[in-house]
Amino acid sequence: MGFNVYVTRQIPEPGLELLRRECSVVEVNPEDRVITRAELLEKVRGRDGLLPMLTERIDAEVMDAAPTLRVVANYAVGYNNIDLAAATARGIVVTNTPGVLTDATADLAWALLFAVARRVVESDRFTREGKFAGWAPMLFLGADITGRTLGIVGAGRIGTAMAERARGFQMKILYTDAVGSDRMERELGAQRVSLDELLAESDFVSVHVPLTEGTQHLFGIEQFRKMKRTAIFINTARGPVHDETALVEALKSGLIAGAGLDVYEHEPALAPGLAELPNVVVLPHIGSATIGTRTRMALMAAENLVAVLKGQRAPNCVNPEVYNRK
Ligand code: GLV
Ligand code: GLV
Repeated sequence: MGFNVYVTRQIPEPGLELLRRECSVVEVNPEDRVITRAELLEKVRGRDGLLPMLTERIDAEVMDAAPTLRVVANYAVGYNNIDLAAATARGIVVTNTPGVLTDATADLAWALLFAVARRVVESDRFTREGKFAGWAPMLFLGADITGRTLGIVGAGRIGTAMAERARGFQMKILYTDAVGSDRMERELGAQRVSLDELLAESDFVSVHVPLTEGTQHLFGIEQFRKMKRTAIFINTARGPVHDETALVEALKSGLIAGAGLDVYEHEPALAPGLAELPNVVVLPHIGSATIGTRTRMALMAAENLVAVLKGQRAPNCVNPEVYNRK
């Protein structure tokens, strides 16, 4: 035993308890803030396992600061913050937390869709400000949702959960993905189309792709121009999938009608002008932020980490090629 692990930020207790049962040293960053790069490089030294957040870049420099490191158990489903090739080259197993946050994230994407379409945040502010002077026929008219067309970009777990919910609103569902999805087509009645077709036909476009070189700036001014002028753009995946300057421009010039965002290109910064627009709802990356989901994520990350240290196969390894290394 004698495993030595570092957790870069406080996570729900059950995950930490599991780590403490199985490891002799479990240090948790006591501060409720993102650990600095210098602190991370210092704190990772001598560790066998690291449990980071998506806010930390785990690259070769971090790995080389800890020659004994065997596992990086990311507290997220997305793992674009980790240099997988560098990890694999060093025999370090990288894991994520898939599945447990699917429903919570799809629920939040819907919350954004509703909020933008029905102008929930704007009207709440109006009411709080004491401006509500009685029912009015033209007050806060929004967009219809039921029966409209939803375009899902990326038919993985979360995109599929998005489609499941859309059925309840009798929506037409279009999707794009590198591969066709049986579940989407046979069970959910979704139709796979090209991105251009999806953009042209959808009333709501919701992004559910991971951030990779291929998806960076998938949404730029050209894509917004191809969307309906009444369309609403939703991103709960990763900010760099959209060009945020182009998005602000598209919203200002009326190329699209609104946007609901949980993620930002240069998180935590928002593109200049974004927060001043009335037709956007901006949330602070809370897709998986429910008590139940974050607790399950903590347990899952801890289980992955402990499995690797005990010499077992990690349940949620994202660089399986690490096991075939000579
Ligand atoms: C959240 O963004 C996650 O990837 O878990
Ligand atoms: C994430 O879990 C996805 O596959 O959508």
